[in-house]
Amino acid sequence: MVSNASSSFDPEDGSIYDSANDMKAFDETKGGVKGLADSGLIKIPRFFVHPPEKPQQPPSNSSNINLQVPIINFEGFESSRRIEVVNEIRRASENWGLFQVVNHGIPENVMDDMLEGVKRFHEQPQEVKTEFYTRDADQRVKFFTGAPLLTKEPAIWRDTVAFDFKDGKLDPQLFPAIMREEVGEYFRHVTKTGKALSELLSEALGLRSNYLSSIECMETESLVGHYYPACPQPELTFGTTTHSDPSFLTILLQDNKGGLQVLHQNQWVDVPPLQGALLVNIGDLMQLITNDRFRSVEHRVLAGEVGPRISLASFFFPSTANTFKPYGVIQELLSDDTPIYRATHLAEFMGQYMSTGSYISTLSHFKVSNGQAFSSTEDTG
Ligand code: OGA
Ligand code: NI
Repeated sequence: MVSNASSSFDPEDGSIYDSANDMKAFDETKGGVKGLADSGLIKIPRFFVHPPEKPQQPPSNSSNINLQVPIINFEGFESSRRIEVVNEIRRASENWGLFQVVNHGIPENVMDDMLEGVKRFHEQPQEVKTEFYTRDADQRVKFFTGAPLLTKEPAIWRDTVAFDFKDGKLDPQLFPAIMREEVGEYFRHVTKTGKALSELLSEALGLRSNYLSSIECMETESLVGHYYPACPQPELTFGTTTHSDPSFLTILLQDNKGGLQVLHQNQWVDVPPLQGALLVNIGDLMQLITNDRFRSVEHRVLAGEVGPRISLASFFFPSTANTFKPYGVIQELLSDDTPIYRATHLAEFMGQYMSTGSYISTLSHFKVSNGQAFSSTEDTG
């Protein structure tokens, strides 16, 4: 159950206080974290303050410089280097759950223009962007902040503009005028990249290349443009708290500021900005249908003293017709293994993800205990 009370950690005396009212008041300004940052404050409001990391978690600012996120060169992926690229994707998806891609085919100016568009949206006069300010899940273009009104989590130092391309469709008239062209152009390109990745991932799983497209698990795209303002006390809060993405797949474009980290071998590893690269990460639902073969990865964004940092995430989900279609472990991957997860549908999975309020380990909820799965394997008892 989700409670309406929000608790934050008070840095002055270590006490926990109920931040729900402060958060609500902040939300109602509709100015976002940027509005707050622009007011020139030197201490962040206490509802942004996160408790110090629990001892069993890796230290918050350490980053292991010996570990490097895989970088995959897509050059020739449709011809001479297909097998090589497929093999690299398999290794990265099994071991890391994410990788950087260069030579993916999206022109650099399209990516730069998109990031500029996100920046322009957030930096336009407040009264223009508040037109889009809403918490309504049915609004397909919206602007919102990092204050999680319905959970117990502290707020995060981030504003977001989001576009919901249901089944790949969204009327451009709904886009904010200030970034209309850029959104349309980037969406066209990233959709193509998504299709290419769907084929490469299918092959990396040893399946026919149209397998993932045939189950229609990547037809709906949600584009979110994050704006992380400079933060006067970055060590007390987060840009994005630790989570794994509930999607099947995510393609992320980040600017050159840095701050993104992934949890790998129980250590936080920086994902350094790489000019012209896209980041691809496996989502929870992909981990479920691949029976843990491919791993979704926990990641977070540190708040930064310099800013703003801009990023653009594209989340791939099933088509709307498949909101209640069961997605379970792919049978072809189960020759010896028993399924780790039971089947679920998007509506149930997202309901579970949103209800926990802390976006970690949603998958464990769908684990089959003692191998009692409903699947084709006969030998579970
Ligand atoms: C996300 C996310 C990272 C970033 O939106 O799920 O992890 O760099 N974003 O903004
Ligand atoms: Ni994420």
